[in-house]
Amino acid sequence: MNIPIPPGVFDLIPTDTKESWRSTYLWNYVESVIRETAVQYGFQEIRTPLFERTELFKRGVGETSDIVSKEMYTFDDKGGRSLSLRPEGTAPVIRAYIEHQLYNEAPIHKLYYIAPMFRYERAQAGRYRQHHQFGTEVFGNTSPEQDAELIDLLYTLYNRLGLTNLQVCLNTIGDASCRIAYRQALQDYLRSSYDQLSKDSQTRFETNPLRILDSKDAKDREILVQAPTILDFLNSESKDHFEAVKKLLNSLKIPYTINPQLVRGLDYYNNTVFEVIAGELGAQNSIGGGGRYDGLMKTLGGPDMPGIGFGTGIERIIQTMLKQNVAMPSPNRPTLFIIPLGDEAKAVCFSILHDLRQHNVAAQMDFSGKKLAKVMQYANQIGAQFVTVVGDNELKSKQIELKEMATGNKMQASIDHLSRILQVETKAKDFIKIWKEMSQPFEDPSEAAYFVKKISQSIEDTKKITQTLENAVEKIKDLLEDKKN
Ligand code: HAM
Repeated sequence: MNIPIPPGVFDLIPTDTKESWRSTYLWNYVESVIRETAVQYGFQEIRTPLFERTELFKRGVGETSDIVSKEMYTFDDKGGRSLSLRPEGTAPVIRAYIEHQLYNEAPIHKLYYIAPMFRYERAQAGRYRQHHQFGTEVFGNTSPEQDAELIDLLYTLYNRLGLTNLQVCLNTIGDASCRIAYRQALQDYLRSSYDQLSKDSQTRFETNPLRILDSKDAKDREILVQAPTILDFLNSESKDHFEAVKKLLNSLKIPYTINPQLVRGLDYYNNTVFEVIAGELGAQNSIGGGGRYDGLMKTLGGPDMPGIGFGTGIERIIQTMLKQNVAMPSPNRPTLFIIPLGDEAKAVCFSILHDLRQHNVAAQMDFSGKKLAKVMQYANQIGAQFVTVVGDNELKSKQIELKEMATGNKMQASIDHLSRILQVETKAKDFIKIWKEMSQPFEDPSEAAYFVKKISQSIEDTKKITQTLENAVEKIKDLLEDKKN
C-alpha cells in the first residue's frame, strides 16, 4: 500500500514535468539570485528552528490574527511544552536576536532567511500548508530610507528574476495613537451595517476592526467603499514619515499605488505597510509583503528597538515567472558526456572524468556499457552540451572528437588538453556576462581613470612576478653551470 503525501504540501524533484515550478533546478536558481541580491544590500543570513514555543507567536504575531488563531500547527512535546511549527519568520528572528544579544554587535542588524513556513490553510493553487519565504528583518533604524531600501530590494529582486507587471501597494497604518482614533471612527462607521457584515468581520468588529479592511467578502467590500481612511487620522510624525518614504520611492523610480485599506494580516505592524501583487496569481495574488513593527522587539522582551521587514513566497515567485514566460536557466547540464567503448577505454576515461572535475568541468560518463544508440539518447536527455565516444582509435591517436549536441558541430581535441578546452567553454560565458553588464563602462573620465589605474596595477604586478621568475631561472642556470664546472 502506498502512502500519499499529506494535502497542501509538495515535493520538489529535480525536474517536474507536470508542475514545472516544483523543479529543484528552478528553486536553486531563484535562491541563488536571492542570496546574491540580499548580500549586495548588506544582509546576513539567519537560520532559526522549525518550531518555537507557541507563546512566541501568540505574543509576537497576535492572538486575534488568523495565522495564530486558526492556522498554527500546535502540539505538546513529551515534556509538556506547547510548541508550534513556525507560521512566519519575524517573531523567531526577533527571539533569536534577543537571545544572542545581537543588538550588542552593532554590524548585525540586517538579517535574511530562506525558510519553510507552516500554516494550516485551506489548500488551493498558490496556497500551501508548507510554503517557503525569503524574508528580511532590519532592526534599530527608524529612518524612511530604511523603508525605501527594503522595498527597493524586493522590487530589484523581482526585476532581476525577470518579473514584470507587478503592483507595489503602499500604505501607512500610523502609530498606536493614530490607530486608537481611527479604530473608533471605523467602528462608528461600520456599526450601522454590522448585521450585513460577514461572520469573520463581525468577529473582528470588536477584536481587531482594522482587519475588516482586509476582507475579501463582496458585501464587506461594498460596505467599505465609503469607510473613513487611516490617512485622515495620521499625526504629523506618521504623515512626515510616509511622505518621506513616498519621495524616496519616487527618486528610485519605483512605481507604487497607495491603498489606504491595506492593513496586512499580522498584528505587529505600525506605520509603513506594503504588499506586491502579481495579477497572474489569481485569488492568491500577494507575492510579497511586509512593513514596520517598531514595538515588537520590546513586546517580546528585548530592547526598545524599531524593526521593519518583508516576506516573499518562493512558490509564488516561481509560479509567476513561469506564467510570465520569463527566460529560465536550463537544468544543470553536464558540459561533457563521455562514452567509452571497451574496458581499456573505460579505465582511461574514468581518469579523464576525475581530472575534468578537478578542473571544475561538469562531466559525466557512461558506466552502463549499454548500446551506443541508447547511451547517446540518455546523453541527449540529460542535456549534455558535448558528447565524445572513446574507443581504441582515440586511445592510440590521443585525439577525440567532441560533438556539440545542440548544433551537431564537431571539434577535434587532444585527450591531454581536454580540461583546458572545456574550461574555456565553461568560463567564456562568465566573461560574456561581465562584458554585457559593463556594456557602457566608461561614461565619465573618473571611471576610465579608475579602469586604467587597475589595469596598470595588474600589468605592474605581472611584470614584477615575471622579473622574479626570470631571476630565479637565471640563478638555477648559474647553479647548474657551477655544478658542471
Ligand atoms: P505574509 O504576508 O503572511 O507575511 O507572507 C509573506 C508572503 O508569503 C506572502 O506574500 C506570500 O507570497 C507567501 N505566503 C504566505 N502564506 C502562504 C501560503 N499559505 N502558501 C504560499 N505562499 C504563502 C509574513 O509572513 C511576514 N512575516 C512578512 C514580514 C517580515 N513582515 C515583516 N517582516
